[in-house]
Amino acid sequence: MCGIFSFISREPSSIATVLVEGLQKITYRGYDSVGVSVLHNEEHHVIKAVGNMDQLAPLMPKKSLQAHVGIGHIRWATNGSVSLQNAHPVASKHFALVHNGIISNIDDIAPRLPKISVLKGETDSEVVVHFCEHLWSNNRSSFFSLERAVELLEGSWALAIACTKNPESLLFARKQSPLIIGEAPEGFYLASDIGSMPDTVTELTFPEDGDYGFVNTKEIIVYNNKKEVVRPTSPHVTTQQTATKGSFSSFLLKEIHEQPDVVRSILKNNVQKTESSSFTPSFAESVRIRTARMHLIACGSSYYASLLGVHWLEKIANIAASPYIASEYYWQCAEDKMCAFISQSGETADILRLFSEPLKPKAKHTMCLINSAHSSLSRLVPRVIPLYAGVERSVASTKAFLSQITTLFLLACAWGGEEGRKHIAKLETLPTLLDTLIKGSYDFLATNIPPLLDINHYIFLSAENLYPIIVEGSLKMKELSYITSTAYTFDNMPFLHIHPHSMLIIVLNKDHEPLAHEALALALQDHAPFVIVITNGPSDLIPPHCLHLETPECDHLVFPMLATPFLQMIALVVAEHRGSCIDQPRNLAKSVTVE
Ligand code: AGP
Repeated sequence: MCGIFSFISREPSSIATVLVEGLQKITYRGYDSVGVSVLHNEEHHVIKAVGNMDQLAPLMPKKSLQAHVGIGHIRWATNGSVSLQNAHPVASKHFALVHNGIISNIDDIAPRLPKISVLKGETDSEVVVHFCEHLWSNNRSSFFSLERAVELLEGSWALAIACTKNPESLLFARKQSPLIIGEAPEGFYLASDIGSMPDTVTELTFPEDGDYGFVNTKEIIVYNNKKEVVRPTSPHVTTQQTATKGSFSSFLLKEIHEQPDVVRSILKNNVQKTESSSFTPSFAESVRIRTARMHLIACGSSYYASLLGVHWLEKIANIAASPYIASEYYWQCAEDKMCAFISQSGETADILRLFSEPLKPKAKHTMCLINSAHSSLSRLVPRVIPLYAGVERSVASTKAFLSQITTLFLLACAWGGEEGRKHIAKLETLPTLLDTLIKGSYDFLATNIPPLLDINHYIFLSAENLYPIIVEGSLKMKELSYITSTAYTFDNMPFLHIHPHSMLIIVLNKDHEPLAHEALALALQDHAPFVIVITNGPSDLIPPHCLHLETPECDHLVFPMLATPFLQMIALVVAEHRGSCIDQPRNLAKSVTVE
């Protein structure tokens, strides 16, 4: 998805270099063009490239311009094709801007432009820059031009704007699209993603919906509806998470290996057995209110995690829970229920739209499970349960998914009374079991899964509480390998779909022997050329021609957490065989931040 990174330096400095470093950190979000603009000697020096940062590098000047202000952007084409003209920054005579979001009333704005405005591209963003220019030609104030513009624009935006007439100032505005300002000794950074903030940043300011203003070399001034406002700040805590892959071939593989520590972190931060409680004070406070019914609302992998949450909430806590894809949710009869939002980024547009007009929250109790601290969602919902997965750089989610299912399991245990709490012991052994499972598995799979390049249909099969993880496993396969893959429960499997050009991946609870027989008989009969069976512990039922993957012996309730890394690694190995780009798969967004 699109990303903004801009910088205003207290002293003239090599702005373009700083912009490239910042943008580099958000490339994991997925993008198809990139650009930077430096304001120097009353001129916008714009450099853009279609493709990735490697295409931008050769275009950068050998000697970086020394300036105060620069804006940078990675674009994921949604409104207008992938082209140099549509890449950001877009510029007019005096203004240059970068924009995330979509302006919905561009057909009303465009006719207001004077005839001489030459639009080179097809984007709403270019209309906005010319609109600011037009307003400026009347009032000669960049700030009042922005103020008037945000009054007339409709839709969503995060904007960083440079104006040649204010070489030591950067304008900004936000509505339904994230924008954070970071203050550091060397200056101020405006970014759409907290992960791009340099370690030097000490304090973060969070503009709210409808805010606009400017940052100069000394201060941040925020307005809303023509009145100056003060917005909350918070110290910037750097995660110290390495931005490098270390000895791993991809961030994805590294993040799969980080999963035992993610579970350790979840336990350390939420579980604390004292005389008065099994939980840390913050987690105990988050689960203080229990409702008999719940709605779980999410998208993509987070939605699949919710499916598993629903199962555990019903089985362990006796809570009637229903899962919803956020785009299909309208606060249906939500008044008396707990509405829980599950999101890695906390920036998914389909979730955020539920908090704005005309919908507005209609639930008495809301909570969210979020990985990205300081995200927009965490500021909209009072009860926030962090996921402790750390920064996830690979576009395809792995450790965040595991953190979501583990935390949902913990929630079910917490709401399950005495009986529920007994299940927590099953989580306590999980990190060590995951360590054992993950160690050596990748090498084993890379050697034992043959490069079946002619296989273009992958089928995942399972039953009971395992369906959510095979849909997620199937999604990983699609995301990483661009191959068609489908997940079925045994009962609903259209048998004819298994043919010599399909690969079968079966996840089985070994205690379900009849199902196991059925599945394996199927696999043999229908000649799938390659069959992988994952079971929780050893099983005698698996015929020798199948690749049998055993997780350590475990209770069926936590088997999903152990089978998940195998499914992630299978998708990774298949993708590697096919030469796919592992960390930034083609046309895949980490989270969809525009509607
Ligand atoms: C996961 O691999 C995907 N990139 C995607 O489905 C993601 O889970 C979805 O967009 C939801 O994002 P969120 O968890 O940040 O809300």
